[in-house]
Formats: sequence, C-alpha cells, structure tokens
Amino acid sequence: MPQIVVEGLGKQYRVAERKAGTLGALGGLFRRNYCMVDALKGVSFNIERGEVVGYIGPNGAGKSTTVKVLAGILVPDAGRCEVNGRVPWRERIEHVRRIGVVFGQRTQLWWDLPVIESFELLRDIYRVEEAAYRKTLDELVTRLNLGAILDTPVRQLSLGQRMRCDLAASLLHAPELLFLDEPTIGLDAVAKLAVRDFLRELNHAHGVTVLLTTHDMDDIEALCSRVMVIGEGRILSDGTLDGLRAQVSSERRLIVDLERENGSFEQDGVTVERREGHRVFLRFDPRKVPAAELIGRIASRHAVRDLFVENLPIEEIIRRLYERIPA
Ligand SMILES: Nc1ncnc2c1ncn2[C@@H]1O[C@H](COP(=O)(O)OP(=O)(O)O)[C@@H](O)[C@H]1O
Ligand SMILES: [Mg+2]
Repeated sequence: MPQIVVEGLGKQYRVAERKAGTLGALGGLFRRNYCMVDALKGVSFNIERGEVVGYIGPNGAGKSTTVKVLAGILVPDAGRCEVNGRVPWRERIEHVRRIGVVFGQRTQLWWDLPVIESFELLRDIYRVEEAAYRKTLDELVTRLNLGAILDTPVRQLSLGQRMRCDLAASLLHAPELLFLDEPTIGLDAVAKLAVRDFLRELNHAHGVTVLLTTHDMDDIEALCSRVMVIGEGRILSDGTLDGLRAQVSSERRLIVDLERENGSFEQDGVTVERREGHRVFLRFDPRKVPAAELIGRIASRHAVRDLFVENLPIEEIIRRLYERIPA
C-alpha cells in the first residue's frame, strides 16, 4: 500500500463577508454574511515510501490546505486520506509521531528561547529517548551546520538560519515522512542551496519521503522526481517534469548570437520571441522542424557567432497549464 493515499479530498472554508447594515443610525454596524470557498474539489494522489514529490500551484490553489489535512491539522469535508495506514485527524497523536512538518512562513520554535531549548522541549513533547535524541541531534547539527547558533534565541536568527533550525526541529523524532510548505520562501540563494542539499541527503541517507510545496521551480528541478500541479482545488498534472513539459508543449527555445543585429527569421519555420542586441530568442517545435535541421538552415542563412537549444522554462510550462483550466 502507498505511504500516502488521498482520494477525492474536498475542503470548503466558511468565509465572513462584511456588508454594511441598512439602518441609518446603526450604519457603523455590520451584518455578517457567510460564503463558502472551495479550497479542495476532489484531490487524489498516492505517494510511495521514499519519493520526493513537488507540489506546485498558484496562490490559493489549495496546497497548504492539502498539507494541513495530511498533517492532521485540518479535517476535510469529503474524501479519504491515509498516511502510514492511519487517518491523520482521527489518530493524530500516533500520526504526528511519524511525520515532520515545516511551514516556511511560521516557525515551530519558541521565539524567545535559545534554539537548543526549543529542541529539548520538542524532545520531551515527542518523548524521544535520550540516546536516540543525542544521535539525531548530532547528525542534524553537523548536516545543517547549527553548531554556532544553538544558543541563539530564535528571534535573533536570520531567515536562513531559522529555516535550518526548523528543519532540524521537524526531524528530531526521526519521522519517516516530511511535509514542507514553502521551506525556501524568502531565503537567499545560498540558504536555498543549503536547504536543497540537506533535503537531498536526507532522502538518500534515510529514505525519508518528502512532499514539498514551493514556488521555486529550481527547488523542483533540483529535488523532485515527480511533480504534482494543483489549480483551483484539482490536480492538473502528476508525473515527471519532462512528462509535464511533454503534456503542455513540446516547444523548445533556440538562442542565436548573430554577428550583426539585423537578420530576419521569417522563412525559417520559427517564432521570434524577443531580441536582445545581437541575441535572438526563437521558439520552435522539434516535431515539425528537428533541431539539427533548423540549426543547419539558420547557420547557412545568417552570420552566426553561437547558438544553443534549451527547454521552455518550467515557469512558462506551468503558466500555460493554468491557462487551460476550465472555468
Ligand atoms: N483559514 C481559512 N479560512 C478561509 N479561507 C481559507 C483559509 N485557508 C485557506 N483559505 C482559502 O482556501 C483556498 C486555498 O488556500 P491554500 O490552501 O492556502 O492555498 P495555497 O497554499 O495553494 O496558496 C484559497 O482560496 C484561500 O483563500
Ligand atoms: Mg500555501
């Protein structure tokens, strides 16, 4: 059985709408009206032990809601969800012992305490045995380079330092499954790389299953063998990045550096995307014109200094996928 089974998950939120009252004298009062917002409209997927799965989608698509259901924080209105054979919100205590959760926008550490004291509180909360705790902590301190900041109060940490501590905190009880909701949000390039390297190692060395929500496509490219795309409460795509590309568009980009700035590409079976001085960005479909043929044609017709072929940026693939969402 897969480690995570999600089937037809539905979740609505009741949201208060503020409407001005009709009584003149009481104009300052508001009557509460409620409306329902569909966050999840039948989300289904399975995740096998040891997978690293990216979960992407625009703001408001339902990613955090899914993570909260999986973590046992939220109860869905419809559908089925089992993690390690348990229903998260029904067997919450047993469930949270075996998962780690990190929300990038919120720390689980105590703001005013030195990092190490938060860790010790979590050790007590999770009832981690002292020997096991020591061993795990040592490894995390080394791998996340926490030695110098263990005695620093959390509020004094940089965002990157805090995220490394939050990752450690989520793993002190050695969970077999890690849910990460935007773990690299707001981090600088160096801190992002540190988080990515750590997660890759964690998965390789300990086989920890990772579900990763992110806006950063470089996170996905670096870590995820599989990516699920959610839009408006539904899974729009689920597979490899290459599979996602193939599903949306086989187009590729040819970048040509010319000797001279002019030069028309009208007859070459390509679309000119843009020009930057001597550089021209072209789009072509390799099913219609093979790259080699196109390159030969262009080289014979233009004074070419250099050229290279690349895939469409993943951001663009995702944007095109969203454009297809039925209203
Ligand atoms: N606590 C809440 N109360 C009301 N609406 C919410 C709440 N949390 C999320 N929503 C709404 O549910 C939808 C999905 O939100 P969310 O799961 O946070 O999306 P994402 O994480 O993909 O940005 C959005 O329309 C959001 O406004
Ligand atoms: Mg979110």
